[in-house]
Amino acid sequence: MLKLENISVRFSGLVAVDNLTMEVKDKTIHSLIGPNGAGKTTVFNAISGLVKHDGRVLLDGKDITHLPVHKRVYHGLGRSFQNIIIFKYMTVLQNLMIGYHSKLQYNHFDEIVYTNRFTLEERKARLRAIEVADLLGIKTILGVYAGTLPYGFQKLIDVGRALMTEPKILLLDEPAAGLTEKESDILKEKIIRIRDNGITVFLIEHDMRMVLDISDRITVINFGKKIAEGTAQDVVNNEEVIKAYLGTAVTVQ
Ligand SMILES: Nc1ncnc2c1ncn2[C@@H]1O[C@H](COP(=O)(O)OP(=O)(O)OP(=O)(O)O)[C@@H](O)[C@H]1O
Ligand SMILES: [Mg+2]
Repeated sequence: MLKLENISVRFSGLVAVDNLTMEVKDKTIHSLIGPNGAGKTTVFNAISGLVKHDGRVLLDGKDITHLPVHKRVYHGLGRSFQNIIIFKYMTVLQNLMIGYHSKLQYNHFDEIVYTNRFTLEERKARLRAIEVADLLGIKTILGVYAGTLPYGFQKLIDVGRALMTEPKILLLDEPAAGLTEKESDILKEKIIRIRDNGITVFLIEHDMRMVLDISDRITVINFGKKIAEGTAQDVVNNEEVIKAYLGTAVTVQ
């Protein structure tokens, strides 16, 4: 579903991503882990078209290396960000509908005169929001103001917004950051559900309990370079991964 070929990203002298080649298979949960500053978010930025890079990015067989951000979304890339963006004074439904934006076909003129096309697009966005809410199990709170919800729900809305464009692959950057153990367990179930609905998930996460539990495959980077790749079992038994990231030996349940 996603192929990265020799991706390198440089920031004035610093090599943040160093000749990274990897592949994320269709309908899997693939995690990207590594120490702080290893270059994980930068890899996502390269995939999304937010930083200049060397190498090629292929999405579902199509070379998207030179496409602008919105066209990558059109080709099936969905993304949530490390820092959550929630509109507190909007309802859950409205927050989700914002994610449909890149698919909306109307222009500002339509918005002003409220043409049929506008109402049709709005209706499609609304229907998609309901589908997404259904998938994430948050249908009953669609009318609630997002700001009044616990942090765990706000994270789900953030994930839901990235699902609005019906992505083939969803990039999640530390979705469990700041969640309680219970909230992160709920999120874990939702991510599995997303994959089981046919959407490939590419996950950056420091919560190793989550990573080891749900990943079909894991890639480990350090100083922008791949140091290990494989199943949870492979990765936790890798000496270099223990030294660079895990610190102590971890057992996979
Ligand atoms: N826009 C930028 N300009 C300059 N340097 C940057 C920029 N973005 C990231 N970096 C640097 O690139 C390196 C990789 O950063 P990145 O944010 O990708 O790490 P990360 O693996 O996501 O870390 P974390 O786990 O803390 O989120 C770091 O040294 C960071 O300071
Ligand atoms: Mg990061």
